[in-house]
Amino acid sequence: MLFRSVGGAAYDKFKHPLPPETLKITDASDAILFGSVGRDDLPQGLVEKEGLLAIRKYYGFFANLRPATIYSPLAEASSLKKERLTDDQGHAGFELLTVRELTGGAYFGDRVTMEETGGKYASDCMKYSREEIVRILKVGFEAARKRKKVLHSIDKANVLDSSKLWRSIAIEVGKEYPDVKLVHQYVDNAAMQIATWPRQFDVIVTENLFGDILSDLSAAITGSLGLLPSASINEKGFGMYEPSGGTAPDLMGLGIVNPIAQIRSAAMMLSYSFKLEKESQAIENAVAKALEKGARTIDICGKKEAYEKIRGPIAQKDKKAAQSILKEFNILNTEQIADRIIEEMK
Ligand code: IPM
Ligand code: MG
Repeated sequence: MLFRSVGGAAYDKFKHPLPPETLKITDASDAILFGSVGRDDLPQGLVEKEGLLAIRKYYGFFANLRPATIYSPLAEASSLKKERLTDDQGHAGFELLTVRELTGGAYFGDRVTMEETGGKYASDCMKYSREEIVRILKVGFEAARKRKKVLHSIDKANVLDSSKLWRSIAIEVGKEYPDVKLVHQYVDNAAMQIATWPRQFDVIVTENLFGDILSDLSAAITGSLGLLPSASINEKGFGMYEPSGGTAPDLMGLGIVNPIAQIRSAAMMLSYSFKLEKESQAIENAVAKALEKGARTIDICGKKEAYEKIRGPIAQKDKKAAQSILKEFNILNTEQIADRIIEEMK
């Protein structure tokens, strides 16, 4: 394992969020385990666009898989009432996989901001080619085929041309997958459905911006964005693995964030890039076990008083005060929960 910097850390050292020093090493690697980028003391969007989006585009990581796992013991931490999460037998555990297109759409279309006599304008172009849509839909169908054989394709075909093309191609590609039930949903409706009845979904496939938004929503019903890992894969099968949530710059240096999304990203890496299924599963099991035994970071503690109390120390960036609140409420810090998970692997 080789370590190189990206994002803010790389910017500090090399004045660029994705320096050639880093790419030289990732070029020669079998996989990339990515820490999140994002910093509020640098120009807005700099490390995101020139760090994260740049590396996604550089390697052509078009397929982004985001498995939102509802762990039964965390049902209390979910944004939803328990009844909404449980099946007929009263079990809460399930997984919603979002397959997000990652290298097209409004993230990478032409972007302009201009002044005209009438005022200031800005536009972002949501552009998709047929090939881009076909290949991501195939990833969605393949995933659905291996699972419950239901694929929700999310678009806004009642308004957007790019979505109309998306839907017609979904129907066409769907003919190659007669064993998979294809359901079309508009993105606004999908958001409402995920927030009210998530169990109707198993695999969702959607374009870049919709996937960004819906995957955060899928994380909210698991209890926290800090639980959601991701895998980004290119056409050659080369992959990068990162927490779906990006960074939380306001929590920087406090030692209180949930490392589970990062740990599960490593599990996805073992499975997808190295085919080490047993090892990957061992990590997933250890996470589930630790949660079952009550290991909790602040974001999934479900204790309202603790949330209220920690706000002050976060605003003041006071690590000592933040840590003592964790102690008071029997909540683990980043290192402690990681240790518990490692303990469960032994
Ligand atoms: C994500 C993140 C990124 C995105 C940000 C950090 C640019 O929100 O991976 O979902 O919008 O893709
Ligand atoms: Mg996001």
